[in-house]
Amino acid sequence: MNADLLITNIGQLVTCTSRDRPKRGMEMQEVDIIPSAAVAIAGDKIVALGRMDEIESAYFASNTIDVRGRVICPGFVDPHTHIVFAGDRLNEFELKIRGAEYLEILASGGGIISTVLNTRSASAEELFELGLKRLDKMMTCGTTTAEIKTGYGLETDTELKMLQVIALLDVTHPIDIVPTFLAAHTIPPEFKGKSNKYVELICEEMLPMAWNWYKQSHFVGLGRPVFADVFLERNAFDMEQSRRILETAGSLGFRYKAHVDQFTNLGGSSLGIEAGATSIDHLDAISDQEILLLAKSGTIGVVIPPENFNAGKTQFAPARRLIDSGCAVALSTDYNPGSAPCPSMPLAIAIACRYQKLLPSEALNAATINAAFSIGLGETHGSIEVGKQADLLILDCEDYRQIAYEFGGNLVTTVIKSGREI
Ligand code: NIG
Ligand code: FE
Repeated sequence: MNADLLITNIGQLVTCTSRDRPKRGMEMQEVDIIPSAAVAIAGDKIVALGRMDEIESAYFASNTIDVRGRVICPGFVDPHTHIVFAGDRLNEFELKIRGAEYLEILASGGGIISTVLNTRSASAEELFELGLKRLDKMMTCGTTTAEIKTGYGLETDTELKMLQVIALLDVTHPIDIVPTFLAAHTIPPEFKGKSNKYVELICEEMLPMAWNWYKQSHFVGLGRPVFADVFLERNAFDMEQSRRILETAGSLGFRYKAHVDQFTNLGGSSLGIEAGATSIDHLDAISDQEILLLAKSGTIGVVIPPENFNAGKTQFAPARRLIDSGCAVALSTDYNPGSAPCPSMPLAIAIACRYQKLLPSEALNAATINAAFSIGLGETHGSIEVGKQADLLILDCEDYRQIAYEFGGNLVTTVIKSGREI
């Protein structure tokens, strides 16, 4: 049979197989390794994989890559990023080194708001160029699929401008992108003290316009969902406001996720789970009772160790307990200018293993197949399986656990995205 690309002599083909649902609990230790393997790719899809001798005798391809015993794993899926923004937060970085707190900076009109002001005044072209550079950095570290949020506009025009930039990034850059509408990122300065008015604007104007935008976007034809998101936190949105936003989004047709329990437990995890969110993200302050609720639900818990690392914290979301309780856990970078200026999924994996006590196998599933399910793409992305998108990484090692073990460098030597060597 004919294929376009044959990858042979793979020492460990780490597939992270799971077709129908995310891995949870003990299943997260299963990465499904095929030794001495090969993969055949036709177009942008995987058409066969298995023992090298079998695949080589069954497939002929115009292009062959001999990986000389190295490891292949699925491309990383980063399910939580905020990479469309202008400016930086270097001053805030220094303030935090001197002891200032993230929520304190936000309350004093800095933090997210300072990025909002820069993003409002940037053109779509500028935002697009900046986004492209950040996607390149992510891809260098092995990310082949990512979610990108709006949330630095906080006014209708700029939020829609961000959606357009996200769509243009998707059609331009090899990384596959899922858009998330996060007009509920924080209260914009013009609504200070009038947060309910802003919630009204989100529900009555912004969400319906964002939904109409999505329906006309190329994402629909690709079968990619759009998500809505809310930051449920002190100085951002409370329970009642968040419920209203998620319910409105759901009734329009959005799938949804929520930033919850990042600093304070305000009941956000319970709300997200009960509302049927695809994922709830951060979870540092999740309660034991909510962990049990999450384990019984279809919602995925996304943990974000680069955020804790960046804040210099020694406390992390209880990912070990989540897994031991039977939850499905995914990992992300949260790449953004304030709480986590981090493009690297391998760094997220490295921190998760050391501080959240995940095994390399669990962290890899969290960074691939479970991350794909947490953005609605688990059936097409996130694992190496016949019929799936051919997104794979050639790693410069012979044991996949090196990806968690070694840190600060980059073991990704080649990225194959949609069947093409990048
Ligand atoms: O996930 N928590 C809110 N949002 C982001 C931070 C965005 C920013 O600081 O600009 C987060 O940490
Ligand atoms: Fe975030």
